[in-house]
Amino acid sequence: MLIKVKRGWETPESAATDEGVYLERRQLCKAIAAGPILLAGGAPAAALAAAAPKDDPTADLYPAPRNLRYRVDRPVTEEKFATIYNNFYEFGSHKRIAKAAQALKIRPWQVKIDGMVEKPMTIDFDTLIRKMPLEERVYRFRCVEAWSMTVPWSGFPLKALVDFAKPLASAKYLEMETLADKETMPGLRQFWYPWPYIEGLTVAEATNELAFIATGLYGKPIPRQNGAPLRLVVPWKYGFKNLKSIVRFSFTDKRPKTFWEVIQKREYGFWANINPKVDHPRWTQASERVLGTNDRVPTLLYNGYAEQVADLYKDIKGEKLFM
Ligand code: MTE
Repeated sequence: MLIKVKRGWETPESAATDEGVYLERRQLCKAIAAGPILLAGGAPAAALAAAAPKDDPTADLYPAPRNLRYRVDRPVTEEKFATIYNNFYEFGSHKRIAKAAQALKIRPWQVKIDGMVEKPMTIDFDTLIRKMPLEERVYRFRCVEAWSMTVPWSGFPLKALVDFAKPLASAKYLEMETLADKETMPGLRQFWYPWPYIEGLTVAEATNELAFIATGLYGKPIPRQNGAPLRLVVPWKYGFKNLKSIVRFSFTDKRPKTFWEVIQKREYGFWANINPKVDHPRWTQASERVLGTNDRVPTLLYNGYAEQVADLYKDIKGEKLFM
C-alpha cells in the first residue's frame, strides 16, 4: 500500500512548502549570512558548521591533499550553508536536522562488506580509512528538488573500496545501506518509510573515477548531518542517490530496490542521472537555485560530468536513465 505523505524535498521549496515556512527559511538564510544565529533548541549554527572535533581519531588525516583534476567553475558554497541545510530523513523530514543529527553515534563504526565477494568481512571504519588513498575533490552537487551547491569533499574513490572488497566477476551491482538506529534516529518512527535507507549503483558506475566516498568536508572530518563517518558522493546523479552514514556495502547480481524507488518509482528511479531536459513529473529540472546566493543557474547534463560518465549508459536501452 502506498501511503501518500508530504515529503519536503520532493518539490522545489517554493512549490512544496507552505509559503510561511518557505519565507521563514529564506529569512534564516539571510540571518545566517548576516552573522551567527541560534538554531531551534539554542545551538549556534556556526558551531555546528565549523567545529573540527579534536577527539576524532581521524582528525590527523585532514586536510587531505586536493586533487586538482576535480574542480568546478563555480564558487565554493560557504560551509555554513552546506552544513545547516540538509536532507537526512532519519533525523526528520525537513532541512533543519543538523542539531538532531548530533545524536548520531559515530564511534565505534563497523562497516560490513558482503554478498558476492571473495571473502565477506566486517571492518572498523578507523581501520578502513587508513587503508584508503585520501584526497580532496571539489564537486558540484544537485538535489532533485532543484537546489545545488559546490563543496570540497575529502575521502577516497569508491573504486579503491571495490578493489579492496574483491567482488566476484558475477557481481553486477553494489547495494549500500545507511545505519538504522531507533535510539538516536527519531525519523525511524515514521513507519511508512522503508527503512533502512538503501541505495545502489552498477559495479561499472561504482568504479567510475567520479564515484567517491566522502569522509570529510571543508578539510575536516565530515559532520554528522552530512553523513558521518562515511557517505556516497556521485555528482552526476541527483542528491538522493548520495546516501549517508553507510554501514554496509553488498555486491549482488540483482538490481537493488532503492529507498525512494520503493516509495515512488515513477518519480525517483534507480538511475537518477541529472538531465535538464527531463523534467520531474511535477516540476522542471532546467535550472537550479544555488545554496547561499539563491542565484538561478542552468542545470547541466549529468551535472556537468558528461565527459566522465556518458559512456556508462551508451548501451543501456529502454531504461529511464534520467528519472
Ligand atoms: N541519506 C540518508 N541516509 N537519508 C536521507 O534522508 N537524503 C538524501 C541524501 N542522502 C538522505 C541521504 C538527499 S534527498 C539529499 S539531497 C542529500 O543526502 C543531501 O545531502 P546533504 O545534507 O549533505 O546536502
